[in-house]
Amino acid sequence: MMMLDERANLKNYEEALQTMDWQNVERQFTWSKTGNVNIVYEAIDRHVVEGRGDRVALHYTDGSREESYTFTEMMQLSSRFANGLRSLGVQKGDRVFLFMPRSPELYIALIGILRMGAIAGPLFEAFMEEAVKDRLEDSGATVVVTTAALVSRIRSRELPQLQHVILADAVEKNEANQILYRELMTTSDAYTIEWVDREDGMILNYTSGSTGKPKGVLHVHDAMIHQKLAGQWVYDLQEGDIYWCTADPGWITGTSGGVLSPWLNGVTVVVRGGRFDANEWYATLEKYGVTVWFSAPTAFRLLMAKGERQPLQTYNLSKLRHVLSAGEPLNPEVIRWGMETLQVRIHDNWWMTETGSSICANFRCNPLRPGSMGKPLPGITLAIVDDEGNELPPNRLGNLAIKPKWPAMVRAIWNQPQKYEKYFLNGWFVTGDSAYKDADGYFWFEARVDDVINTSGERVGPFEVESKLVEHPAVAEAGVIGVPDPLRGEVIKAFISLRAGYEESDALKEEIKQFVKTRLAAHAAPRLIEVRQTLPKTNSGKIMRRVLKAWELGLPTGDLSTMEE
Ligand code: WTA
Repeated sequence: MMMLDERANLKNYEEALQTMDWQNVERQFTWSKTGNVNIVYEAIDRHVVEGRGDRVALHYTDGSREESYTFTEMMQLSSRFANGLRSLGVQKGDRVFLFMPRSPELYIALIGILRMGAIAGPLFEAFMEEAVKDRLEDSGATVVVTTAALVSRIRSRELPQLQHVILADAVEKNEANQILYRELMTTSDAYTIEWVDREDGMILNYTSGSTGKPKGVLHVHDAMIHQKLAGQWVYDLQEGDIYWCTADPGWITGTSGGVLSPWLNGVTVVVRGGRFDANEWYATLEKYGVTVWFSAPTAFRLLMAKGERQPLQTYNLSKLRHVLSAGEPLNPEVIRWGMETLQVRIHDNWWMTETGSSICANFRCNPLRPGSMGKPLPGITLAIVDDEGNELPPNRLGNLAIKPKWPAMVRAIWNQPQKYEKYFLNGWFVTGDSAYKDADGYFWFEARVDDVINTSGERVGPFEVESKLVEHPAVAEAGVIGVPDPLRGEVIKAFISLRAGYEESDALKEEIKQFVKTRLAAHAAPRLIEVRQTLPKTNSGKIMRRVLKAWELGLPTGDLSTMEE
Protein backbone atom coordinates (compact mmCIF):
# COMPACT_ATOMS: atom_id res chain seq x y z
CA MET A 1 0.00 0.00 0.00
CA MET A 2 1.92 2.98 -1.24
CA MET A 3 1.34 6.51 -0.11
CA LEU A 4 3.79 8.28 -2.37
CA ASP A 5 4.26 7.42 -5.99
CA GLU A 6 6.74 8.81 -8.50
CA ARG A 7 4.52 11.74 -9.33
CA ALA A 8 4.62 13.08 -5.78
CA ASN A 9 8.07 14.64 -6.13
CA LEU A 10 8.98 17.82 -7.93
CA LYS A 11 10.54 17.02 -11.31
CA ASN A 12 10.25 20.22 -13.29
CA TYR A 13 10.15 23.49 -11.39
CA GLU A 14 9.09 25.73 -14.28
CA GLU A 15 6.26 23.40 -15.19
CA ALA A 16 5.08 23.25 -11.58
CA LEU A 17 4.96 27.05 -11.46
CA GLN A 18 2.51 26.91 -14.37
CA THR A 19 0.31 24.08 -13.12
CA MET A 20 0.46 24.48 -9.34
CA ASP A 21 -2.94 24.78 -7.70
CA TRP A 22 -3.47 24.30 -3.96
CA GLN A 23 -6.81 22.67 -4.71
CA ASN A 24 -4.98 19.79 -6.36
CA VAL A 25 -3.05 19.29 -3.13
CA GLU A 26 -6.30 19.39 -1.16
CA ARG A 27 -7.52 16.45 -3.22
CA GLN A 28 -4.80 14.32 -1.63
CA PHE A 29 -6.65 14.49 1.69
CA THR A 30 -9.46 12.20 2.74
CA TRP A 31 -11.44 15.19 4.00
CA SER A 32 -11.74 16.41 0.41
CA LYS A 33 -14.13 13.45 0.01
CA THR A 34 -15.55 12.91 3.50
CA GLY A 35 -15.59 16.45 4.83
CA ASN A 36 -14.15 15.19 8.14
CA VAL A 37 -11.12 17.25 9.04
CA ASN A 38 -8.32 16.58 11.51
CA ILE A 39 -4.60 16.57 10.73
CA VAL A 40 -4.20 13.48 12.91
CA TYR A 41 -6.48 11.45 10.69
CA GLU A 42 -4.32 12.33 7.68
CA ALA A 43 -0.97 11.93 9.46
CA ILE A 44 -1.67 8.73 11.41
CA ASP A 45 -5.08 7.03 11.20
CA ARG A 46 -5.37 7.06 7.46
CA HIS A 47 -2.25 4.93 7.13
CA VAL A 48 -3.88 2.29 9.31
CA VAL A 49 -7.14 2.42 7.35
CA GLU A 50 -5.26 2.14 4.06
CA GLY A 51 -3.13 -0.82 5.09
CA ARG A 52 0.06 0.90 6.18
CA GLY A 53 -0.55 0.44 9.90
CA ASP A 54 2.41 -1.91 10.39
CA ARG A 55 4.85 0.60 9.01
CA VAL A 56 7.07 2.23 11.63
CA ALA A 57 5.98 5.80 12.33
CA LEU A 58 8.63 6.55 14.94
CA HIS A 59 12.06 5.13 15.74
CA TYR A 60 13.16 6.69 19.02
CA THR A 61 16.69 6.46 20.42
CA ASP A 62 18.62 8.36 23.07
CA GLY A 63 21.29 6.02 24.35
CA SER A 64 19.16 4.55 27.12
CA ARG A 65 15.81 4.01 25.41
CA GLU A 66 15.45 2.52 21.99
CA GLU A 67 11.88 1.97 20.81
CA SER A 68 9.86 1.84 17.63
CA TYR A 69 6.16 2.57 17.17
CA THR A 70 4.05 1.67 14.16
CA PHE A 71 1.32 3.91 12.80
CA THR A 72 -1.22 1.55 14.41
CA GLU A 73 0.49 1.92 17.77
CA MET A 74 0.66 5.70 17.41
CA MET A 75 -3.06 5.70 16.65
CA GLN A 76 -3.88 3.60 19.70
CA LEU A 77 -1.59 5.35 22.15
CA SER A 78 -2.57 8.85 21.06
CA SER A 79 -6.24 7.83 21.31
CA ARG A 80 -5.59 6.77 24.89
CA PHE A 81 -3.95 10.09 25.60
CA ALA A 82 -6.84 11.97 23.99
CA ASN A 83 -9.34 10.01 26.08
CA GLY A 84 -7.25 10.80 29.15
CA LEU A 85 -7.34 14.51 28.38
CA ARG A 86 -11.11 14.35 27.94
CA SER A 87 -11.43 12.67 31.33
CA LEU A 88 -9.69 15.72 32.77
CA GLY A 89 -12.30 17.96 31.20
CA VAL A 90 -10.13 19.25 28.34
CA GLN A 91 -12.19 20.49 25.42
CA LYS A 92 -11.69 21.40 21.81
CA GLY A 93 -9.73 24.65 21.57
CA ASP A 94 -8.18 24.39 25.05
CA ARG A 95 -4.41 24.88 25.20
CA VAL A 96 -2.37 21.90 26.35
CA PHE A 97 1.35 22.55 26.62
CA LEU A 98 4.29 20.21 26.21
CA PHE A 99 7.31 21.09 28.29
CA MET A 100 9.66 18.16 28.13
CA PRO A 101 12.68 16.75 26.36
CA ARG A 102 12.20 14.53 23.34
CA SER A 103 10.73 11.11 24.15
CA PRO A 104 8.08 8.85 22.58
CA GLU A 105 5.59 10.25 25.13
CA LEU A 106 6.13 13.76 23.80
CA TYR A 107 4.99 12.69 20.32
CA ILE A 108 2.15 10.52 21.62
CA ALA A 109 0.93 13.47 23.68
CA LEU A 110 1.29 15.91 20.77
CA ILE A 111 -0.80 13.70 18.51
CA GLY A 112 -3.24 12.98 21.34
CA ILE A 113 -3.81 16.69 21.92
CA LEU A 114 -4.48 17.41 18.24
CA ARG A 115 -6.64 14.30 18.00
CA MET A 116 -9.14 15.65 20.50
CA GLY A 117 -9.17 19.11 18.93
CA ALA A 118 -7.15 20.88 21.60
CA ILE A 119 -4.31 23.25 20.72
CA ALA A 120 -0.79 22.00 21.44
CA GLY A 121 1.81 24.43 22.80
CA PRO A 122 5.33 23.02 22.50
CA LEU A 123 7.90 24.63 24.80
CA PHE A 124 11.65 24.18 24.42
CA GLU A 125 12.93 22.19 27.39
CA ALA A 126 15.71 24.70 28.09
CA PHE A 127 13.26 27.37 29.26
CA MET A 128 13.50 28.25 32.92
CA GLU A 129 10.80 29.25 35.39
CA GLU A 130 9.97 32.77 34.28
CA ALA A 131 10.05 32.00 30.57
CA VAL A 132 7.72 29.05 31.16
CA LYS A 133 5.39 31.14 33.26
CA ASP A 134 5.09 33.92 30.68
CA ARG A 135 4.12 31.45 27.96
CA LEU A 136 1.67 29.42 30.03
CA GLU A 137 0.08 32.59 31.35
CA ASP A 138 -0.36 34.28 27.99
CA SER A 139 -1.85 31.18 26.38
CA GLY A 140 -4.14 30.42 29.33
CA ALA A 141 -2.99 26.79 29.20
CA THR A 142 -5.11 24.49 31.35
CA VAL A 143 -2.84 21.44 31.15
CA VAL A 144 0.90 21.00 30.78
CA VAL A 145 2.70 17.73 30.11
CA THR A 146 6.16 17.64 31.63
CA THR A 147 8.70 15.43 33.37
CA ALA A 148 9.81 14.89 36.96
CA ALA A 149 13.02 16.79 36.22
CA LEU A 150 11.29 19.85 34.75
CA VAL A 151 8.14 20.13 36.87
CA SER A 152 9.81 22.42 39.42
CA ARG A 153 10.07 25.09 36.70
CA ILE A 154 6.28 25.36 36.50
CA ARG A 155 4.91 27.82 39.05
CA SER A 156 1.44 26.34 39.32
CA ARG A 157 0.42 28.65 42.14
CA GLU A 158 0.92 31.72 39.99
CA LEU A 159 -1.05 30.24 37.11
CA PRO A 160 -4.72 30.14 38.11
CA GLN A 161 -5.85 28.76 34.76
CA LEU A 162 -3.50 25.79 34.93
CA GLN A 163 -5.51 22.86 36.28
CA HIS A 164 -3.42 19.78 35.63
CA VAL A 165 0.24 18.90 35.35
CA ILE A 166 0.79 15.55 33.65
CA LEU A 167 4.06 13.84 34.57
CA ALA A 168 5.22 11.83 31.58
CA ASP A 169 7.87 9.77 33.33
CA ALA A 170 7.09 9.81 37.06
CA VAL A 171 5.78 6.96 39.20
CA GLU A 172 4.54 9.13 42.02
CA LYS A 173 3.02 12.57 42.35
CA ASN A 174 3.68 15.23 44.94
CA GLU A 175 1.01 17.83 44.33
CA ALA A 176 -2.75 17.71 44.11
CA ASN A 177 -2.79 19.00 40.54
CA GLN A 178 -0.42 16.33 39.27
CA ILE A 179 -1.48 13.39 37.12
CA LEU A 180 0.67 10.43 36.13
CA TYR A 181 0.85 9.77 32.41
CA ARG A 182 0.88 6.04 33.09
CA GLU A 183 -2.42 6.29 34.98
CA LEU A 184 -3.98 8.66 32.48
CA MET A 185 -3.23 6.16 29.72
CA THR A 186 -5.46 3.58 31.41
CA THR A 187 -8.59 5.75 31.20
CA SER A 188 -9.91 4.26 27.96
CA ASP A 189 -8.35 2.57 24.97
CA ALA A 190 -11.25 3.30 22.62
CA TYR A 191 -10.37 4.84 19.27
CA THR A 192 -11.34 8.48 19.20
CA ILE A 193 -11.05 11.52 16.99
CA GLU A 194 -12.66 14.96 17.10
CA TRP A 195 -13.54 16.49 13.74
CA VAL A 196 -12.55 20.11 13.52
CA ASP A 197 -12.85 23.01 11.15
CA ARG A 198 -9.95 23.58 8.76
CA GLU A 199 -9.45 26.95 10.42
CA ASP A 200 -9.49 25.59 13.99
CA GLY A 201 -6.37 26.08 16.12
CA MET A 202 -3.77 23.31 16.05
CA ILE A 203 -0.40 24.44 17.37
CA LEU A 204 0.58 27.57 19.28
CA ASN A 205 4.30 28.33 18.93
CA TYR A 206 5.79 31.01 21.13
CA THR A 207 8.46 32.98 19.35
CA SER A 208 10.29 36.27 19.69
CA GLY A 209 10.11 39.61 17.99
CA SER A 210 12.28 42.59 18.79
CA THR A 211 9.87 44.28 21.17
CA GLY A 212 7.68 42.94 23.92
CA LYS A 213 7.30 39.49 25.39
CA PRO A 214 7.27 36.38 23.21
CA LYS A 215 4.21 36.08 21.03
CA GLY A 216 1.96 33.08 20.47
CA VAL A 217 1.91 32.20 16.78
CA LEU A 218 -1.29 30.29 16.07
CA HIS A 219 -1.37 27.62 13.38
CA VAL A 220 -4.52 25.86 12.21
CA HIS A 221 -5.32 22.42 10.81
CA ASP A 222 -5.28 23.78 7.25
CA ALA A 223 -1.47 23.98 7.59
CA MET A 224 -1.45 20.28 6.72
CA ILE A 225 -1.93 21.13 3.04
CA HIS A 226 1.32 23.07 2.92
CA GLN A 227 3.16 20.66 5.23
CA LYS A 228 2.27 17.69 3.08
CA LEU A 229 3.44 19.41 -0.09
CA ALA A 230 6.69 20.58 1.55
CA GLY A 231 7.34 16.93 2.41
CA GLN A 232 6.99 15.94 -1.23
CA TRP A 233 8.65 18.88 -2.96
CA VAL A 234 11.14 20.36 -0.51
CA TYR A 235 12.14 17.32 1.58
CA ASP A 236 11.74 15.13 -1.51
CA LEU A 237 10.13 12.34 0.51
CA GLN A 238 9.65 9.05 -1.30
CA GLU A 239 8.09 5.72 -0.52
CA GLY A 240 10.29 3.78 1.91
CA ASP A 241 12.29 6.78 3.12
CA ILE A 242 13.72 6.96 6.64
CA TYR A 243 13.62 10.59 7.66
CA TRP A 244 15.44 12.31 10.49
CA CYS A 245 15.05 15.98 11.39
CA THR A 246 17.28 17.00 14.28
CA ALA A 247 15.24 20.05 15.33
CA ASP A 248 13.67 20.12 18.78
CA PRO A 249 9.85 20.06 18.71
CA GLY A 250 9.93 23.18 20.91
CA TRP A 251 10.60 25.04 17.64
CA ILE A 252 8.45 25.01 14.52
CA THR A 253 10.98 23.00 12.52
CA GLY A 254 10.72 20.13 15.00
CA THR A 255 6.95 19.76 14.70
CA SER A 256 6.04 20.92 11.20
CA GLY A 257 9.21 19.69 9.48
CA GLY A 258 10.11 17.08 12.08
CA VAL A 259 7.01 14.89 12.18
CA LEU A 260 3.98 16.43 10.46
CA SER A 261 5.40 16.69 6.92
CA PRO A 262 6.76 13.12 6.93
CA TRP A 263 3.77 11.51 8.66
CA LEU A 264 1.32 13.21 6.31
CA ASN A 265 3.24 11.36 3.60
CA GLY A 266 3.37 8.04 5.46
CA VAL A 267 7.14 8.26 5.96
CA THR A 268 9.03 6.75 8.92
CA VAL A 269 10.58 9.28 11.30
CA VAL A 270 13.70 8.91 13.44
CA VAL A 271 13.95 10.96 16.63
CA ARG A 272 17.18 11.15 18.58
CA GLY A 273 16.86 12.42 22.14
CA GLY A 274 19.71 13.82 24.20
CA ARG A 275 22.31 16.41 23.38
CA PHE A 276 24.41 16.91 20.28
CA ASP A 277 27.19 14.36 19.94
CA ALA A 278 28.98 14.01 16.60
CA ASN A 279 29.69 10.30 16.89
CA GLU A 280 26.20 9.49 18.13
CA TRP A 281 24.72 11.44 15.26
CA TYR A 282 26.76 9.64 12.63
CA ALA A 283 25.93 6.34 14.33
CA THR A 284 22.21 7.22 14.20
CA LEU A 285 22.39 7.97 10.47
CA GLU A 286 24.05 4.61 9.92
CA LYS A 287 21.97 2.51 12.30
CA TYR A 288 18.57 3.49 10.90
CA GLY A 289 19.78 3.86 7.34
CA VAL A 290 18.52 7.43 7.24
CA THR A 291 17.77 8.45 3.64
CA VAL A 292 16.59 12.03 4.14
CA TRP A 293 18.25 14.14 6.79
CA PHE A 294 17.25 17.62 7.94
CA SER A 295 19.49 19.62 10.25
CA ALA A 296 20.83 23.14 10.69
CA PRO A 297 24.00 25.05 9.84
CA THR A 298 25.30 25.23 13.42
CA ALA A 299 25.00 21.45 13.74
CA PHE A 300 26.74 20.93 10.41
CA ARG A 301 29.52 23.30 11.51
CA LEU A 302 29.93 21.33 14.74
CA LEU A 303 30.23 18.13 12.70
CA MET A 304 32.66 19.86 10.37
CA ALA A 305 34.94 20.48 13.31
CA LYS A 306 35.22 16.66 13.47
CA GLY A 307 36.83 16.55 10.06
CA GLU A 308 35.94 15.26 6.62
CA ARG A 309 37.29 11.84 5.81
CA GLN A 310 37.17 10.29 9.27
CA PRO A 311 33.35 9.88 9.52
CA LEU A 312 33.29 8.15 6.15
CA GLN A 313 35.90 5.66 7.28
CA THR A 314 34.04 4.90 10.49
CA TYR A 315 30.38 5.06 9.47
CA ASN A 316 28.42 3.84 6.51
CA LEU A 317 26.37 6.81 5.35
CA SER A 318 25.66 5.42 1.91
CA LYS A 319 21.88 5.40 2.39
CA LEU A 320 21.71 9.21 2.59
CA ARG A 321 19.96 10.52 -0.48
CA HIS A 322 18.82 14.03 0.38
CA VAL A 323 20.08 16.45 3.04
CA LEU A 324 18.36 19.66 4.13
CA SER A 325 19.22 22.68 6.21
CA ALA A 326 17.10 25.51 7.58
CA GLY A 327 16.97 28.07 10.35
CA GLU A 328 20.06 30.15 9.61
CA PRO A 329 22.19 31.05 6.61
CA LEU A 330 23.95 28.03 5.14
CA ASN A 331 27.53 28.87 4.22
CA PRO A 332 28.84 27.51 0.90
CA GLU A 333 31.74 26.12 2.93
CA VAL A 334 29.33 23.79 4.73
CA ILE A 335 27.91 22.59 1.42
CA ARG A 336 31.43 21.80 0.26
CA TRP A 337 32.05 19.84 3.47
CA GLY A 338 28.76 17.99 2.94
CA MET A 339 29.82 16.87 -0.53
CA GLU A 340 33.03 15.44 0.92
CA THR A 341 31.69 13.92 4.09
CA LEU A 342 28.07 13.01 3.48
CA GLN A 343 28.67 12.72 -0.25
CA VAL A 344 25.48 14.61 -1.03
CA ARG A 345 24.61 18.24 -1.50
CA ILE A 346 23.01 20.07 1.41
CA HIS A 347 19.86 21.85 0.30
CA ASP A 348 19.00 25.06 2.10
CA ASN A 349 15.39 26.03 2.71
CA TRP A 350 14.00 29.16 4.30
CA TRP A 351 11.01 29.64 6.57
CA MET A 352 10.00 30.98 9.94
CA THR A 353 7.63 30.14 12.78
CA GLU A 354 4.99 32.36 11.22
CA THR A 355 5.12 30.66 7.81
CA GLY A 356 4.29 27.24 9.31
CA SER A 357 6.27 25.34 6.69
CA SER A 358 9.00 25.76 4.08
CA ILE A 359 8.61 28.76 1.77
CA CYS A 360 11.78 28.93 -0.29
CA ALA A 361 14.16 26.10 -1.13
CA ASN A 362 16.97 24.75 -3.21
CA PHE A 363 14.86 22.06 -4.85
CA ARG A 364 16.47 18.82 -5.80
CA CYS A 365 15.43 19.23 -9.43
CA ASN A 366 16.97 22.71 -9.74
CA PRO A 367 20.66 23.58 -10.07
CA LEU A 368 21.95 24.37 -6.58
CA ARG A 369 23.44 27.79 -5.92
CA PRO A 370 25.56 27.58 -2.77
CA GLY A 371 24.82 30.50 -0.45
CA SER A 372 21.35 31.06 -1.87
CA MET A 373 18.16 29.87 -0.21
CA GLY A 374 16.74 28.88 -3.56
CA LYS A 375 13.39 29.62 -5.14
CA PRO A 376 9.86 29.88 -3.76
CA LEU A 377 7.73 26.77 -3.39
CA PRO A 378 5.34 26.77 -6.36
CA GLY A 379 2.07 28.09 -4.98
CA ILE A 380 3.86 30.71 -2.90
CA THR A 381 4.43 34.27 -4.12
CA LEU A 382 7.67 35.53 -2.62
CA ALA A 383 9.08 38.97 -3.35
CA ILE A 384 11.41 41.71 -2.23
CA VAL A 385 9.54 44.89 -1.30
CA ASP A 386 10.60 48.35 -0.17
CA ASP A 387 9.45 49.94 3.10
CA GLU A 388 6.19 51.03 1.46
CA GLY A 389 5.45 47.51 0.26
CA ASN A 390 6.26 48.09 -3.41
CA GLU A 391 7.91 45.21 -5.20
CA LEU A 392 11.58 45.78 -6.08
CA PRO A 393 13.33 44.56 -9.24
CA PRO A 394 16.03 41.83 -9.15
CA ASN A 395 19.32 42.45 -7.35
CA ARG A 396 17.87 45.13 -5.07
CA LEU A 397 18.10 44.53 -1.35
CA GLY A 398 14.81 44.91 0.51
CA ASN A 399 12.24 43.22 2.74
CA LEU A 400 11.53 39.57 2.08
CA ALA A 401 7.74 39.38 1.77
CA ILE A 402 5.08 36.77 1.01
CA LYS A 403 1.67 37.24 -0.56
CA PRO A 404 -1.06 36.14 1.89
CA LYS A 405 -2.49 33.75 2.43
CA TRP A 406 -0.84 30.38 2.09
CA PRO A 407 -2.20 27.31 3.90
CA ALA A 408 0.34 27.14 6.77
CA MET A 409 0.39 30.88 7.41
CA VAL A 410 0.03 32.12 11.00
CA ARG A 411 -3.64 32.92 11.59
CA ALA A 412 -3.36 35.01 14.75
CA ILE A 413 -1.04 36.24 17.44
CA TRP A 414 -2.60 34.93 20.61
CA ASN A 415 -4.31 37.73 22.57
CA GLN A 416 -2.63 40.41 20.46
CA PRO A 417 -4.53 41.29 17.27
CA GLN A 418 -2.56 44.53 16.91
CA LYS A 419 0.71 42.56 16.74
CA TYR A 420 -0.78 40.42 14.01
CA GLU A 421 -1.67 43.47 11.93
CA LYS A 422 1.94 44.64 12.11
CA TYR A 423 3.09 41.85 9.79
CA PHE A 424 1.13 43.24 6.86
CA LEU A 425 2.14 46.03 4.50
CA ASN A 426 0.41 47.00 1.29
CA GLY A 427 -0.99 43.50 0.82
CA TRP A 428 2.24 41.70 1.73
CA PHE A 429 3.23 39.65 4.75
CA VAL A 430 6.60 41.13 5.73
CA THR A 431 8.97 38.57 7.21
CA GLY A 432 11.48 40.78 9.02
CA ASP A 433 14.36 39.43 6.90
CA SER A 434 16.21 41.42 4.28
CA ALA A 435 17.17 39.64 1.10
CA TYR A 436 17.46 40.07 -2.64
CA LYS A 437 16.45 38.05 -5.66
CA ASP A 438 18.94 37.49 -8.48
CA ALA A 439 18.11 37.73 -12.17
CA ASP A 440 17.37 33.99 -12.29
CA GLY A 441 14.90 34.10 -9.42
CA TYR A 442 17.12 32.70 -6.66
CA PHE A 443 16.72 34.40 -3.27
CA TRP A 444 19.73 35.42 -1.15
CA PHE A 445 19.39 36.05 2.57
CA GLU A 446 21.08 39.16 3.90
CA ALA A 447 20.10 39.76 7.55
CA ARG A 448 17.24 40.34 9.94
CA VAL A 449 15.90 43.88 9.58
CA ASP A 450 14.70 43.91 13.17
CA ASP A 451 16.79 43.11 16.23
CA VAL A 452 15.83 39.43 16.51
CA ILE A 453 18.89 37.30 17.28
CA ASN A 454 19.58 33.94 15.68
CA THR A 455 22.01 31.96 17.83
CA SER A 456 22.68 28.35 16.86
CA GLY A 457 19.49 28.58 14.80
CA GLU A 458 17.44 29.50 17.86
CA ARG A 459 15.40 32.66 17.70
CA VAL A 460 15.90 34.95 20.68
CA GLY A 461 14.17 38.28 21.26
CA PRO A 462 16.45 40.94 22.75
CA PHE A 463 13.61 42.43 24.80
CA GLU A 464 13.09 39.26 26.83
CA VAL A 465 16.81 39.10 27.65
CA GLU A 466 17.02 42.82 28.46
CA SER A 467 14.01 42.57 30.78
CA LYS A 468 15.68 39.75 32.64
CA LEU A 469 19.01 41.57 32.87
CA VAL A 470 17.51 44.65 34.49
CA GLU A 471 15.94 42.47 37.17
CA HIS A 472 19.44 41.82 38.46
CA PRO A 473 20.14 44.25 41.33
CA ALA A 474 23.42 45.44 39.80
CA VAL A 475 22.03 46.25 36.36
CA ALA A 476 20.65 49.73 35.71
CA GLU A 477 20.13 49.46 31.95
CA ALA A 478 20.68 46.78 29.36
CA GLY A 479 20.78 46.58 25.58
CA VAL A 480 21.16 43.23 23.85
CA ILE A 481 22.37 42.46 20.33
CA GLY A 482 23.60 39.52 18.28
CA VAL A 483 27.23 39.60 17.20
CA PRO A 484 28.59 37.45 14.37
CA ASP A 485 30.13 34.14 15.41
CA PRO A 486 31.79 31.61 13.09
CA LEU A 487 30.21 28.57 14.77
CA ARG A 488 26.85 29.73 16.11
CA GLY A 489 25.97 32.29 13.47
CA GLU A 490 25.45 34.87 16.17
CA VAL A 491 26.12 35.00 19.90
CA ILE A 492 24.29 37.20 22.36
CA LYS A 493 26.06 40.26 23.68
CA ALA A 494 24.69 42.50 26.43
CA PHE A 495 25.73 46.07 27.01
CA ILE A 496 24.86 47.11 30.54
CA SER A 497 25.30 50.03 32.86
CA LEU A 498 25.61 49.42 36.58
CA ARG A 499 23.67 50.82 39.49
CA ALA A 500 25.48 53.02 41.98
CA GLY A 501 27.52 51.00 44.42
CA TYR A 502 28.42 48.19 41.98
CA GLU A 503 31.89 47.76 40.49
CA GLU A 504 32.59 46.00 37.23
CA SER A 505 34.32 42.63 37.70
CA ASP A 506 34.52 39.26 35.97
CA ALA A 507 32.75 37.70 38.93
CA LEU A 508 29.85 40.14 38.63
CA LYS A 509 29.52 39.55 34.89
CA GLU A 510 29.51 35.81 35.45
CA GLU A 511 26.84 36.20 38.12
CA ILE A 512 24.70 38.23 35.71
CA LYS A 513 25.07 35.59 32.98
CA GLN A 514 23.99 32.90 35.44
CA PHE A 515 21.07 35.05 36.52
CA VAL A 516 19.67 35.07 32.97
CA LYS A 517 20.56 31.43 32.44
CA THR A 518 18.69 30.19 35.48
CA ARG A 519 15.65 32.42 35.04
CA LEU A 520 15.17 32.56 31.28
CA ALA A 521 17.11 29.89 29.40
CA ALA A 522 20.70 28.88 28.77
CA HIS A 523 20.44 29.60 25.05
CA ALA A 524 19.13 33.11 25.78
CA ALA A 525 21.87 34.10 28.24
CA PRO A 526 24.48 36.56 26.95
CA ARG A 527 27.86 35.01 26.26
CA LEU A 528 29.44 38.45 26.28
CA ILE A 529 28.81 41.34 28.63
CA GLU A 530 30.27 44.81 28.27
CA VAL A 531 29.84 47.45 30.94
CA ARG A 532 29.40 51.05 29.87
CA GLN A 533 28.89 54.23 31.83
CA THR A 534 25.67 54.94 29.94
CA LEU A 535 23.84 53.38 27.02
CA PRO A 536 22.61 55.19 23.90
CA LYS A 537 18.91 55.98 24.26
CA THR A 538 16.24 57.77 22.28
CA ASN A 539 14.50 60.84 23.70
CA SER A 540 11.73 58.55 24.85
CA GLY A 541 14.23 56.38 26.73
CA LYS A 542 14.48 53.37 24.39
CA ILE A 543 17.89 51.74 24.15
CA MET A 544 19.21 52.17 20.60
CA ARG A 545 20.39 48.68 19.71
CA ARG A 546 21.41 49.92 16.28
CA VAL A 547 24.05 52.11 17.92
CA LEU A 548 25.25 49.22 20.09
CA LYS A 549 25.64 47.14 16.97
CA ALA A 550 27.61 49.88 15.26
CA TRP A 551 29.89 50.18 18.31
CA GLU A 552 30.42 46.46 18.28
CA LEU A 553 31.20 46.18 14.59
CA GLY A 554 33.15 49.43 14.41
CA LEU A 555 30.67 50.90 11.94
CA PRO A 556 29.37 54.44 11.64
CA THR A 557 26.47 54.99 14.05
CA GLY A 558 24.25 56.66 11.45
CA ASP A 559 21.55 59.17 12.25
CA LEU A 560 21.62 60.01 15.95
CA SER A 561 19.10 62.84 15.83
CA THR A 562 16.64 61.00 18.08
CA MET A 563 19.30 60.17 20.65
CA GLU A 564 18.94 61.75 24.05
CA GLU A 565 21.56 64.27 25.16
C1 WTA B 1 16.18 32.73 9.88
C2 WTA B 1 12.99 28.73 11.87
C3 WTA B 1 18.86 32.17 6.45
C4 WTA B 1 15.51 33.98 9.34
C5 WTA B 1 12.49 27.86 10.70
C6 WTA B 1 14.08 33.81 9.82
C7 WTA B 1 17.12 31.63 7.85
C8 WTA B 1 14.28 33.16 11.16
C9 WTA B 1 16.85 30.46 7.10
C10 WTA B 1 13.09 32.37 11.59
C11 WTA B 1 17.69 30.18 5.99
C12 WTA B 1 15.42 30.61 8.72
N1 WTA B 1 18.68 31.06 5.70
N2 WTA B 1 18.11 32.47 7.51
N3 WTA B 1 17.52 29.09 5.25
N4 WTA B 1 15.78 29.85 7.66
N5 WTA B 1 16.22 31.68 8.84
O1 WTA B 1 10.99 31.45 13.50
O2 WTA B 1 16.10 35.13 9.89
O3 WTA B 1 12.82 30.11 14.58
O4 WTA B 1 13.39 35.03 9.93
O5 WTA B 1 12.00 29.60 12.26
O6 WTA B 1 15.41 32.29 10.98
O7 WTA B 1 13.36 31.65 12.76
P1 WTA B 1 12.26 30.70 13.36
